Amino acid sequence: MTTQCKALIMATYNLFLLPGDGIGPEVMAEVKKLIAWMNGHGMGTFRTDDGLVGGSCYDAHGVSVTDETVDKAKAADAVIFGAVGGPKWDKVPYDARPEAGLLRLRKDLGLFANIRPAICYPALAESSSLKRDVVDGLDIIILRELTGGVYFGEPKTITDLGNGQKRAVDTQVYDTYEIERIARVAFELARKRRNKVTSMEKRNVMKTGVLWNEVVAQVHAREFKDVELEHQLADSGGMQLVRWPKQFDVIVTDNLFGDILSDIAAMLTGSLGMLPSASLGEVDPKTKKRKSLYEPVHGSAPDIAGKGMANPIAMIASFGMALRYSFNMGREADLIDQAIAAALAKNLRTADIKSEGCKLVGTAEMGDAVIAELTRLAAA
Ligand code: IPM
Ligand code: MN
Repeated sequence: MTTQCKALIMATYNLFLLPGDGIGPEVMAEVKKLIAWMNGHGMGTFRTDDGLVGGSCYDAHGVSVTDETVDKAKAADAVIFGAVGGPKWDKVPYDARPEAGLLRLRKDLGLFANIRPAICYPALAESSSLKRDVVDGLDIIILRELTGGVYFGEPKTITDLGNGQKRAVDTQVYDTYEIERIARVAFELARKRRNKVTSMEKRNVMKTGVLWNEVVAQVHAREFKDVELEHQLADSGGMQLVRWPKQFDVIVTDNLFGDILSDIAAMLTGSLGMLPSASLGEVDPKTKKRKSLYEPVHGSAPDIAGKGMANPIAMIASFGMALRYSFNMGREADLIDQAIAAALAKNLRTADIKSEGCKLVGTAEMGDAVIAELTRLAAA
């Protein structure tokens, strides 16, 4: 069958693109190029629609995400998300702050499983602040629970106590089912990798930590005895992540610890600009589909926004994760990863990963280089 003929019978996937704020639109532009390239090379048929989220949505509509956008995100085959936030919106009401748009999308789409792989490409081992042998060849996953915990627990308030004092309350809350389902994702991921799960919590000070530890151990004993399970306290786990990260395979942890530990993990790879992520919902038993959103772990980087110097790799690799996890296109996702590695091996570097003797390039040049490598690899 010719490639063209194959393209005709290929499924059409609807992608909903939410570039957001700051460098979001710049890095998303590179994904748009990539989508056009894939459509043009018989590697899927992708239709795209764009929407506003975060501060840019607030400026247009007075909220950080509209109901219409949430509905479109629910209807899409996958959401590709850039980044939100920036000092411009520091003073907007708390409920309308840019981050609230992202949090609502995660909650309303039920995206409880956030997969954050930290892979250190050989070419970047020197860019990490850690010694080469600590990070070279690193390949771990931080699996972050994304719809529970202190991010969403109620009450979440600041109360005036009337005596010149205020009291702020955030609530860390987890139910058994929330821990069970994220634990299952962790064990299933590990089975396809090096078969080891490390669960991190603070059972020495938190009730949610006690329950987390207990439930993960039960799911393991009941359903995943073949997988190695280890428990670490989250503070000590953070220390181990910078001491010897290669001891880990899949780390499973709650929403807040996962936020912090994944930023640490990002630096192991050389830069926050390198880390992609996938946020997945439950598999629908009828359609076998799951809601999904793909976003880089980095933020909107307002300090470099508009300068064309942001690293698009985390965003491009997030699209690669969409191919892998939403469209079962593992081969194409592998090609994208190889193309990223090849562009880096040619010593092209954006500012965040620059090193001596390498060529400094901008966002668009890096995106073009990845596509050029892809073209070469696809023809091989
Ligand atoms: C992340 C971000 C978000 C989070 C912010 C933007 C709300 O830091 O995805 O890691 O804290 O979850
Ligand atoms: Mn974060």
